Amino acid sequence: MMQKTTVDLGNRSYDILIDENIIDNAADYIVPLLKRAKTVIITDENVARHQLSRLEHNFSENNLEYDTIILPAGEATKSFEQLEELLDKLLSLRLERTDMIIAFGGGVIGDLVGFAASIYLRGIDFIQIPTTLLAQVDSSVGGKTGINSRHGKNLIGAFHQPRLVLIDVTTLETLDPRHIIAGYAEIVKYGLINDDAFFAWLEQNGEALIEGDRNLRSQAIRKSCAAKATVVADDERETGARALLNLGHTFGHALEAENGYNDTLFHGEAVAMGIILAFKLSAKTGLCPHDDVDRVVKHFQKTSAKQISSFNFNVENLLNHMKGDKKMSGGKLTFVVASGIGKSFLSKNVNMDDVRSVLEGALKE
Ligand code: GLY
Repeated sequence: MMQKTTVDLGNRSYDILIDENIIDNAADYIVPLLKRAKTVIITDENVARHQLSRLEHNFSENNLEYDTIILPAGEATKSFEQLEELLDKLLSLRLERTDMIIAFGGGVIGDLVGFAASIYLRGIDFIQIPTTLLAQVDSSVGGKTGINSRHGKNLIGAFHQPRLVLIDVTTLETLDPRHIIAGYAEIVKYGLINDDAFFAWLEQNGEALIEGDRNLRSQAIRKSCAAKATVVADDERETGARALLNLGHTFGHALEAENGYNDTLFHGEAVAMGIILAFKLSAKTGLCPHDDVDRVVKHFQKTSAKQISSFNFNVENLLNHMKGDKKMSGGKLTFVVASGIGKSFLSKNVNMDDVRSVLEGALKE
């Protein structure tokens, strides 16, 4: 059954529609948003191999004219070079300001295409059809778009909300299971931020969800999107509460940077480690009961998250990466900490010696 959540942003509000096989009926939801029956699908090689024919077939069946642009898969695609090439292609296809482009893929495609949409002819509409768990529960919702720079990830970008998000859980079935485990960390994040009942539900159902249960996956995606929609509607440009969605990310981004942003550590895997570190930091400063930290650690162990101690990270380098984080403000880092499961909040008063000691402890385990 189709599930719907709305991101409430006044005249820029949009729906998130979640259903099995929705990409086989995508035109039903897309065509009403178009000014003319023409669009461009932008995807990557992996999604093109496994899913593209479904969307193209549906567009053809509905007499929707389309071009398709297939980009290389992987984080390196979120670059100035790929952005320039993509904009060039869109210009040569003579796409007009009132046309629509479609981001069909994971977080890399969603972020790059969203950013291209925000600057193409000073801004064009776009639709997100996320195909990875991470993109379905996080990056396709909320309008954060961008590319990486040599100075760090996501440092160049814009807020540009999509007109629609279409989520099809069946696209998860051609993914490497490691991508499911990585995306799952962002689901757990919503429980830990402010929904202890959802975390308890994940303790019961998380393993079956990872294994492939479509119904559990749909439920968790809907819950995650609803949680994100509420936060984004309240604080679109992250002047306050939206920063809670960065639970585990200050640590996580440092781990990714130190690892050289390569595929031995996916973003979601780094986030899982980062969440554990954020809870350990919260316990170290006396905020969070140790029992809650143990539940978080156990849950990630049960759901096969990678262990930080299996990497050879250098603590001083990690601390330096954190200082370059774009969430620095007035020379201080804002951390998301927690006084328990479902009780996260922002803190600007974290002592970097405590951060160092938590990192040292975790790397020795
Ligand atoms: N992924 C965090 C956010 O969208 O704010």
